[in-house]
Amino acid sequence: MSVQPNLPEPDQLRWSEGGIVASPAVAALAASSFDPQYREAWTELQIANLLAGGNAWLDLCHAGQELVAFALNRQVLDEVELLLCAVSPAWRGRRIGLRMMEQVADSARKRGGKRLFLEVRQGNEAAMALYLSAGLRQEGRRPAYYRTVVGDSIDAITFASFLQ
Ligand SMILES: CC(C)(COP(=O)(O)OP(=O)(O)OC[C@H]1O[C@@H](n2cnc3c(N)ncnc32)[C@H](O)[C@@H]1OP(=O)(O)O)[C@@H](O)C(=O)NCCC(=O)NCCS
Repeated sequence: MSVQPNLPEPDQLRWSEGGIVASPAVAALAASSFDPQYREAWTELQIANLLAGGNAWLDLCHAGQELVAFALNRQVLDEVELLLCAVSPAWRGRRIGLRMMEQVADSARKRGGKRLFLEVRQGNEAAMALYLSAGLRQEGRRPAYYRTVVGDSIDAITFASFLQ
């Protein structure tokens, strides 16, 4: 995929970390980002509950007031799991996903994270291409990990990388 000519100017995008107060905006972006048949988007309550736990955070990207991308992360000891991430449909294909992965790695390192891992639904080619571009490696497969709205099973592919 080639980078589109109308790349946002760097100063158009603002990266930050976020917590529970960002849950409504993140849930709204998740709802508009994921195909509902796969039931991947978390609800506002699920996001808020996770962030209330104290070991999770958001990496956020804004253009003005608009939330353009997010990553929801959880840390256990020196392992960080990227649980959910998305780039707003209108902003895809501009390497924002790649920059988001750099943000995730930076914020994880800052917390003492040594390893980053995640699961992705088999068939999510865009996400798998992003993770490979970001330097993660495919580690394994969890058979029938996801279930669609009509009850079909889909494997999860696990990716990981060491944070240096
Ligand atoms: C996956 C997602 C975050 C990618 O965001 P993005 O900003 O469009 O990605 P980028 O522009 O940074 O692209 C990064 C790499 O992935 C590749 N890629 C992105 N979308 C792709 C697509 N639809 N098909 C194939 N490759 C794709 C790019 O070519 C690029 O590779 P390169 O570095 O070799 O050029 C975005 O498509 C998305 O939000 N999808 C819906 C939510 C989702 O599936 N989240 C992940 C699971 S939690």
